[in-house]
Amino acid sequence: MFFSKITGVGHFVPDNVVTNHDLEKIMDTTDAWIQERTGIQERRFYRPHEKGSTAKMAYQASLIAMQRAGVTADDIDAIVFATLSSDYYFPGSGVLLQDMLNMGTKPAIDVRAQCSGFIYALSIADQFIRTGMYKRILVVGSETQNIALDLTTRGRAMGVLFGDGGGAAVLEQHSQAGRGILSTHLHSEGKHADILCIREPGTGNETIVYEGMHEQHDKINPFMDGQFVFKNAVKRMPEAVMEALAHNNLQLSDLDMLLPHQANLRISQMVQRLLNLPDEKIYNNIQKYGNTTAATLPILMSELWEQGRIKEGQLYALTAFGSGFTWASALIRW
Ligand code: COA
Repeated sequence: MFFSKITGVGHFVPDNVVTNHDLEKIMDTTDAWIQERTGIQERRFYRPHEKGSTAKMAYQASLIAMQRAGVTADDIDAIVFATLSSDYYFPGSGVLLQDMLNMGTKPAIDVRAQCSGFIYALSIADQFIRTGMYKRILVVGSETQNIALDLTTRGRAMGVLFGDGGGAAVLEQHSQAGRGILSTHLHSEGKHADILCIREPGTGNETIVYEGMHEQHDKINPFMDGQFVFKNAVKRMPEAVMEALAHNNLQLSDLDMLLPHQANLRISQMVQRLLNLPDEKIYNNIQKYGNTTAATLPILMSELWEQGRIKEGQLYALTAFGSGFTWASALIRW
């Protein structure tokens, strides 16, 4: 029997810090509104924008993850790359990272599951390792979101929430049952696809890019019914954690740390309350980075790693919810 475990994690965020006060200067918002509703104090924007920034952040994060795992790109068999902000319309950013890492002809798989993307990617990588097809996979979440945001008063409801960043994990084969990735559970509910989306460019029209497209504000900018997303997020994330624990015959009291997707500090706090977890068993960093979508979970893990708070034998739950809707959980015995 084969199992998988994370042997190294890394992250990269751009140097450019954008505070709530910076946003006050370009839209009708306040630091108080943003902090009260979301907990966010600042985020990072990859600006001035560079071509290929999603893959570039993934590359930097991957180098750190591989160094911590004690491997090089030559040791990696495949990449699974989660993003909603790929550098090209096609191909996905996975192959761009594959080229940056000089990985010859090894495969790169792109995952589009938005905020749940990292857990979806982890699950896919875990299955490849369990079947014995691959021994070592780079699992990545990276996002450049600033250029897709409407950073005017018109787009303020979403513009203040998101940030840029990348994270990566090296997932390796091992044979010790009960250690590493214990399980992953994935869900989606496509009937809510239009609740949180950017509709264009897409193939929903006769041409991908058409005359007058840039005037279609509601289609080319992110759209979200924030309160509906909020209600579903606080229902689905605890559900997914409980599903993971039940599947492994474990209790909430067995959990050492919950890492929730960083959508909004209020969402994380409600999830914590619903699961009745003490403060020391949950880790949030949305205050510093905003919502970095597929990158939030590897960034959380990488920060914990740097703080020496990832400990052998401890039980970690990851959970995420986002556009699609998609939601997921992963249970890890480190
Ligand atoms: N600054 C100041 N005011 C703002 C604002 C901003 N950035 N964004 C919206 N507002 C205003 C609205 O225009 C509205 O004004 P009105 O009452 O005069 O119409 C008021 O604030 C309330 O807006 P509303 O959208 O009802 O706020 P909310 O309490 O639902 O909070 C979110 C908005 C987005 C913070 C909240 O719904 C949320 O976090 N949802 C989940 C988002 C999420 O996680 N998305 C990613 C999924 S992974």
